[in-house]
Amino acid sequence: MPSTSHYQARRRQFLAAIDTPVLLMAGGWISRNYPANWNPYRADSTFLFFFPEPEPNAAALFDPKDESVTLFLDERTAEDALWHGPVPSFADVKKKVGVSRIEKRADLAAVVKKKAGRRKVRTVATPDPRATAEARAVTGDKVDFFAADKVGHRDVIAAIAHLRNHKAPEELTEMRRAAAITNDAHKAAMAHTRLGITEQDLVGRVEGVFTRHGCVPAYGTILSVRGEVLHNHAHHHTLRDGDLVLLDAGAELPSGYCADVTRTWPASGRFGPEAADVYDIVLAAEKAAIEAVAPGIRYRDVHMLAARVLADGLQQLGILRGSADALVESGAHALFFPHGVGHLLGIDVHDMEAFGDQISYAKGRPRSEQFGTRYLRLDLDLQPGVCVTIEPGIYFVPAILRDAATKKQFKGQVDFARCERFLTMNSGRGFGGVRIEDDVVCTRTGREVLTAAVPKERPALEALVGSALT
Ligand code: GLY
Ligand code: MN
Ligand code: MN
Repeated sequence: MPSTSHYQARRRQFLAAIDTPVLLMAGGWISRNYPANWNPYRADSTFLFFFPEPEPNAAALFDPKDESVTLFLDERTAEDALWHGPVPSFADVKKKVGVSRIEKRADLAAVVKKKAGRRKVRTVATPDPRATAEARAVTGDKVDFFAADKVGHRDVIAAIAHLRNHKAPEELTEMRRAAAITNDAHKAAMAHTRLGITEQDLVGRVEGVFTRHGCVPAYGTILSVRGEVLHNHAHHHTLRDGDLVLLDAGAELPSGYCADVTRTWPASGRFGPEAADVYDIVLAAEKAAIEAVAPGIRYRDVHMLAARVLADGLQQLGILRGSADALVESGAHALFFPHGVGHLLGIDVHDMEAFGDQISYAKGRPRSEQFGTRYLRLDLDLQPGVCVTIEPGIYFVPAILRDAATKKQFKGQVDFARCERFLTMNSGRGFGGVRIEDDVVCTRTGREVLTAAVPKERPALEALVGSALT
C-alpha cells in the first residue's frame, strides 16, 4: 500500500489544480439480494487514488481556499463493533490518512454548506447510484455516471485524469506487484493445463492465486478455447487436442492498482503448424508495438504499427493479399484484428473509461469511423508515467468472415476460402483466436514492461503447459 505521504502529495496536487471546492464520494455497500447481504465493497476509483483503504460511505471535501481535505466517516457504533469488529477511531484514521479533519458522515450536507459558503461546489459521479444522488443533492452539480460528458465538470475531470495518468513511483510499485501476482496466476493455469480439464477448473487456479495474495480479479476472467469471442466469460468447455487456451486475467490489489495480461497456449502443450504461424505473427506485432512505446509517441501510431505487422504476416500466410499499407488503409486487417491495440491502465483496468474520450483522445483527434480502429480506446501522445496495455490479436470470427457484405467488400484482399479452412479446422471447432497482452509504462527514456516475466515465447509456453501434472 502506498505511504501516507504519497496520498498526501496526490491530494495537495489536486488542491493546487482546482479553484472551487470538490466533493468526492467513495460509494457504499450494494446489496446482492436482501439488504444486509452485500456484494464485496469496492470504493470509487478516484477515491481510491486519493485515500488508502477507503471506508464504505466515506466522502471527502477538497477545499482549495484553505488547502484542506475534510474526510467524512460514519459514526462508530457498538453495533458495528459487534458485527464487524473494532473500527479505528476518527483520531486514528486522521493520523493514518493524514487529512486536515474528520467529520461525521451524517453532517455532510451541513458541513459542506458552511464551508463552501456561496462558492460553487463540484462533484464527480460514482458507480454507486445512491452516493451519486446524494452528491448531486448536496452540491447541486448535475453529474451522471452513465454519460461520460456529464460525469463531472470538465476541468475537474481533466485535473483528476492528469494526476491518475502520470503514475508516481509508489503507484508503479503497486503496478509491479499486481503484475507479479498476475504472472503467478498465469503460470498456474499453464502448469495445470491438460486435455480433459474444464476451463472452469483453470479459472479456479487463476483466481485462487489472486485470493491467496489478498487480491480480486480486476475484471471478469476470460479463459476460453473460444478466444475469438473477445469478452467471453463462459467457462464450460472441456479442453481437447487442437484447442488454443486464451487467458485474459489480472489481479487487483487492495489499493486498486491492477494488471491486465493475456496469454494463449495450446491445450495439448504443442503448437500445431497453423497455431505456430499465427502465434508468431501476433508475437511479432506485440513486440514491435511495445518497442514503439516512448515519450511523445502517438498511441494511434502504435496501433497502426501493430496492424501493419499483423497484415504483413497474414499476407505471408496467404490469407490477405496486397501490401500491408494498402490492407491497413482499407481496413482489411480489422477482419482479423477487430479491436484497438490497448488502453490506459491503472486503478481501473480500462483506466478512467467512465470519463470518456475527453481524457483519452487528444483535442482535434476524433475517433475513426472505420471498423476495428473505431474501438481504439486511446489516442494521446505518450508521456513518462503513463501506463498502457499492448494487446494485438488475430481471431477467426465466423460472424465477420462469413458476412456476405464483408466478403463482397474485401474479395480482392482476403482469401475467404483459406479463412474457411481456419473456421472449420480442429474437428469443426475452428481456430479460435490468439491475443498477447502486456502492461507497459512509458518512461523518460522509453518503456518498462511491467509484465515481462509472464512467459510468451513458444518454447517457454510448451515447457510450462502441464508441468504441474508430471
Ligand atoms: N481485459 C480486457 C482487456 O484486455 O481490455
Ligand atoms: Mn486490456
Ligand atoms: Mn485483457
